[in-house]
Amino acid sequence: MTSRLTARELTLAYEDRTVVHELDLAIPDGKVTVIVGPNACGKSTTLRALGRLLKPAGGAVLLDGEELAKLPTKRIARSIGLLPQTPVAPEAITVADLVSRGRQPHQAWWKQWSEEDERAVSDAMERTDVAALADRSVDALSGGQRQRVWIAMALAQETDLLLLDEPTTYLDISHQVEVLDLVRRLNRLRGRTVVLVLHDLNQAARYANHLVAMKAGRVVAEGPPGEIVTEELVRDVFGLTSVVVPDPVTGSPLVVPGAPWRADADEERDESLSKPLRG
Ligand SMILES: Nc1ncnc2c1ncn2[C@@H]1O[C@H](COP(=O)(O)OP(=O)(O)O)[C@@H](O)[C@H]1O
Ligand SMILES: [Mg+2]
Repeated sequence: MTSRLTARELTLAYEDRTVVHELDLAIPDGKVTVIVGPNACGKSTTLRALGRLLKPAGGAVLLDGEELAKLPTKRIARSIGLLPQTPVAPEAITVADLVSRGRQPHQAWWKQWSEEDERAVSDAMERTDVAALADRSVDALSGGQRQRVWIAMALAQETDLLLLDEPTTYLDISHQVEVLDLVRRLNRLRGRTVVLVLHDLNQAARYANHLVAMKAGRVVAEGPPGEIVTEELVRDVFGLTSVVVPDPVTGSPLVVPGAPWRADADEERDESLSKPLRG
């Protein structure tokens, strides 16, 4: 396995509170990596550090073997696209203008807005189904529409590495599937390396080639979903009793919450249920 983007003994903190502890992680090239874990375990923090939105308190993130912190911003922005969990749009910006900002890393004072830029922007808007919203103000969109506009901006950047933090939040189920299918197509057809944070373990198991399970700022397990998603892992990471069965559509592990029927669970039942019926 090759990996252009790696974390080495990465420690991340907010002021004096350490959130991620000496994390070692190699993002496999040309694969879809999905990070899962309970709320507040450090997924977004990790992703932001991988995209250099957050400076390490210890260790380093390396891009092509070079420390991210030492690389010029534009060089990074041409390689890594990052959509944070709660991005903030400039006030009163239109959809087309926001998506166009994805092209900034490709601009230079000597280079005019090119046909290539135009194509990348309209391509990204088509793919995310926001072309019809081009002239609307981003402020005036629904949560789901806005989310798709942000994804369009990240796509317009056309980077080899794409980091998306919970890109399906706010989306209805069909748009969730559309976005995840799009991500997978980008990966398969264009060889993009993708890192997603997803809160839905079943979607994660469906779309990941490489799954990373985090708990309290550490990696608990990583590997192909079919190998690591087990009832034990779900209990360990999420504190949840579940049954893991093959997903009927994809064969990937499907986590169904709840305990299976056990004989010793009888006592917990309402007594009246176990009394014989009197005729
Ligand atoms: N900007 C911030 N300032 C201070 N603490 C933060 C900040 N962002 C996140 N945290 C804290 O860091 C921890 C990890 O957060 P986060 O990485 O967002 O978790 P996740 O994405 O897994 O839900 C949480 O306890 C959260 O409250
Ligand atoms: Mg998060």
